[in-house]
Amino acid sequence: MPSISATASAKTILFGEHAVVYQRPAIAVPVSNLRTKVSILANPIGKPEETLIDAPDIKFRKRFNELDDDHPIRMAINLVTNHFLLDHFPACEILIKSVIPIASGLGSSASTAVALIRALGNFLGQRLDDQIVSDLAFKVEKIHHGNPSGIDNTVIAFEKPIFFVKQRPVEILKIQNKMNFVIGDTGIHSLTKDVVSFVRDQWINNPKKYDKIFDQIGEIAELAKNAMRLGNNDEIGTLMTKNHLLLKKIGVSSPELDKLIDAAQKAGAMGAKLCGSGRGGNMVALIKEEDSFQVQDALKTAGAIHTFFTQIRPVN
Ligand code: MEV
Repeated sequence: MPSISATASAKTILFGEHAVVYQRPAIAVPVSNLRTKVSILANPIGKPEETLIDAPDIKFRKRFNELDDDHPIRMAINLVTNHFLLDHFPACEILIKSVIPIASGLGSSASTAVALIRALGNFLGQRLDDQIVSDLAFKVEKIHHGNPSGIDNTVIAFEKPIFFVKQRPVEILKIQNKMNFVIGDTGIHSLTKDVVSFVRDQWINNPKKYDKIFDQIGEIAELAKNAMRLGNNDEIGTLMTKNHLLLKKIGVSSPELDKLIDAAQKAGAMGAKLCGSGRGGNMVALIKEEDSFQVQDALKTAGAIHTFFTQIRPVN
């Protein structure tokens, strides 16, 4: 019997992480060459609670009824079941495969939620539209991250560059020029939930200082939106580096990230910053395509455990 599948990309935030939780604008783009794939095979003789979930990359293999009520996978299955007003999801085997590193700022949890929700819909013979997939994935993200802004599930569900303000309709960003990026991994795992809650504590202790920085980050995101529409990559790079300096000020960078960002710039990147929640995970550098190898070499010399190239192209 053939399996039904769906995939979802990774993401990187170019502007505005953390400030976006406090209602400031942010910009994120999909990383389409890193993906999660979910395949579902029917089990016509099984009981629904016997549904098997297998994620070999993280050595996870459990039946539906072994999962806690608030387990993200159980939540996703229940959300899709409720969305279609079913009593239960038909018995099946779910295989989750992903090449997105976990806890490293590239949206692995949102990517899994989006791919799983899409695959579950496809399995029922219903194509869920991007906004519904994003809304359902947001509910799953809340388990992982406590108080997420919704930017990760949105950029991944739409798989397009987005200008995002929490609780507002998403704006798809039409970019004028191809944008080339190198992403470098510090190899340090960092949980979004912990870093977001650290920032919240700092903000509660010093709202004036933090609100001012969030405002500055928001202004950078607005300028970047214009620069992306006009295709001014030099300006975008400069704004990325400025955004990184503000992220440093709020205490979410790390010596390892700063070292990679510095190395990328010395190797010719137009700009670079941490991406995602910070304190580890990945950084992203905007580069000229021909500089990809030299920037990746410099990042490896500076301690990156993985590097890769990704590209965003204008679409009409
Ligand atoms: C995480 O990818 C981005 C943060 O801004 C958290 C969020 O927006 O939910 C750090």
